Amino acid sequence: MKGIILAGGKGTRLYPLTKAVSKQLMPIYDKPMIYYPLATLIEAGIHEILIITTPDDLPLYRRLLGNGSRIGCSFSYKEQPEPNGLAQAFILGEDFINNDPVALILGDNLFYGTHFIEQLKKHATYDGGMIFASRVSDPHRYGIVQFDSNKKAINIEEKPIYPKSSFAVPGIYFYDKTVVEKAKKLKPSKRGELEITDLNRLYMDEDRLHVEVLDHGTAWLDTGTIESLMEASQFVQVIQSRQGILVGAIEAAAYHSEAIGKDKLSDLAEELKGTVYGNFLKSLIL
Ligand code: DAU
Repeated sequence: MKGIILAGGKGTRLYPLTKAVSKQLMPIYDKPMIYYPLATLIEAGIHEILIITTPDDLPLYRRLLGNGSRIGCSFSYKEQPEPNGLAQAFILGEDFINNDPVALILGDNLFYGTHFIEQLKKHATYDGGMIFASRVSDPHRYGIVQFDSNKKAINIEEKPIYPKSSFAVPGIYFYDKTVVEKAKKLKPSKRGELEITDLNRLYMDEDRLHVEVLDHGTAWLDTGTIESLMEASQFVQVIQSRQGILVGAIEAAAYHSEAIGKDKLSDLAEELKGTVYGNFLKSLIL
């Protein structure tokens, strides 16, 4: 399976912070934001990844992440000239997807939980579309999914004014190879975007959308507001200092998912010698 990270957009809600620097390069505690969703994909065994971002920001991502070979992965890049919606990722990524199943993760979504990675691995090859649902206290900010009494998803709406449930759809999505042709059928919404929610509805209409509720052990944080950005940093800091691990370390994710072996990890730890990050990588080998 291939993966796409969407790291474009204007980030206007975080101005002036994001006026000169892309939102997904902002620090979440001790790493750039994009490290977290990238580590999630890699840990789930997705090693061939397309990063979509704005023409201005693309060189910065390339400088940060390179072609991925350093950690046994393959990273490629594509410009999104205007933020025309999440579902546009599949049109821009058509050549990259090349009729394979594909996962999309938003560059500003952070997931944490060992069981979550297992859930991803288990369901990644679902025939159709596979999304998650998670209870939130502010459902008007998200895509919202409604279930019937048999826990079957029956309706999905983007940022409803009067939400029919409090189950939000987090920014990670798995689709079969029909996703490109479906994305091409979408019409821009009232806010002028190709909506991921409309794409999910197409799968739902075919009765091929699987919705998995995140278990309580999985934390999902988005970083759409200054408050949530701050909370995400605090979350990472607390987990790391209590558990003595690094969350969102792409090198560790590559090692756990066997993209690299011990020798390579040891070289990477050596490169980062003298940093907390390097010490952590070293501790994985011992
Ligand atoms: O966080 C989960 C939510 O993400 C879902 O529940 C919603 O259904 C989904 O529409 C999306 O809502 P947001 O309002 O958070 O989307 P936003 O416009 O903020 O975009 C999410 C990220 O994707 C953000 O980091 C910017 C990037 N982006 C966005 C658009 C519209 C792009 O790279 N290109 C785009 O065209």
